[in-house]
Amino acid sequence: MLRQPLLMLSRSDKVKNFVTAMPVSSGIVSRYVPGEATQDAVEATRELIESGLHVTLDFLGEDTLDREQADATVAAYLDVLSALADQGLARNAEVSVKLSAVGQSLADVGEKVAIENARTICHAARNAGTTVTLDMEDHTTTDSTLGILRELRKDFPETGAVLQAYLRRTEADCRDLAYEGSRVRLCKGAYNEPESVAFQDKHDVDKSYVRCLKVLMGGAGYPMIASHDPRMVDIAGALATRNGRAQGSYEYQMLYGIRPDEQKRLADAGEKVRVYVPYGQEWYGYLMRRLAERPSNLTFFVHSLVSK
Ligand code: FDA
Repeated sequence: MLRQPLLMLSRSDKVKNFVTAMPVSSGIVSRYVPGEATQDAVEATRELIESGLHVTLDFLGEDTLDREQADATVAAYLDVLSALADQGLARNAEVSVKLSAVGQSLADVGEKVAIENARTICHAARNAGTTVTLDMEDHTTTDSTLGILRELRKDFPETGAVLQAYLRRTEADCRDLAYEGSRVRLCKGAYNEPESVAFQDKHDVDKSYVRCLKVLMGGAGYPMIASHDPRMVDIAGALATRNGRAQGSYEYQMLYGIRPDEQKRLADAGEKVRVYVPYGQEWYGYLMRRLAERPSNLTFFVHSLVSK
């Protein structure tokens, strides 16, 4: 019931200004975001890698309408990639990029700027010995993001995609992307989407997730199962067995701070597990989406606000 209002608030500048006066170190924020600086991200990465996990780093930011801000985001990615390489972490850590943070939403020139910027990040990632995965945002950007992915994969075939099971189109997109070498992160989807394009009922989203998993696990690509849902994790495991997939020919992915014991349990069982680690000052939209998934955290959130 609270999911929709929270997702609407995630795009409100007024609420954002109020909430972001809260320090990143306050309980609810630090549960999901390890810090604002590159060094905070690198430290969190090192700890996760030392405990047997892999990482994908997201420099927080989205819906950028300012060219300078987009360029600053690119600079932040170059900075973190060079830190990962220098500190010997790049083998186990990649980066995730929201195209709207690197220019996709700029009027007229958006796609052109986003593709140039994404290309710069892909180059730096390759030089560091790692890869980039393009996050997926709301449905108005899906065609553009998949178009940019196709362009990038001509020179950087290792670039990963994200598909969202709540979109009605996604099973077909999974079929298109289930080819050899294609890394696809399958998530349920975190935005407020209309019924015309997205399943609204949680049960229907879960059924779609399973259909998409069947396509990806039965295909020739590299599936990345991004879910904390125990049933999806179990079904993915069963599909790996059914399709004769060895551990490491797919991976599980979860968000920083969510079900850490399960992340460790899977890794201890020999599975490849990657943790998505967001960092930076622009944590508001990310935090609101996490609250929308788990409104029971709201009490904790309100407590953080009133005691700030
Ligand atoms: P579901 O929401 O059904 O949750 C299953 C269980 O997980 C819950 O019962 C609870 O135990 C736990 N849980 C889930 N969310 C929680 C939270 N916020 N706090 C505490 N516990 C929680 N989305 C998107 O639209 N575009 C993208 O690019 C990405 N990228 C992405 C990368 C990775 C690695 C992950 C794991 C997820 C994303 N997402 C995303 C988010 C995704 O779409 C989805 O909103 C969340 O993962 C929650 O869905 P689950 O599959 O976990 O199931």
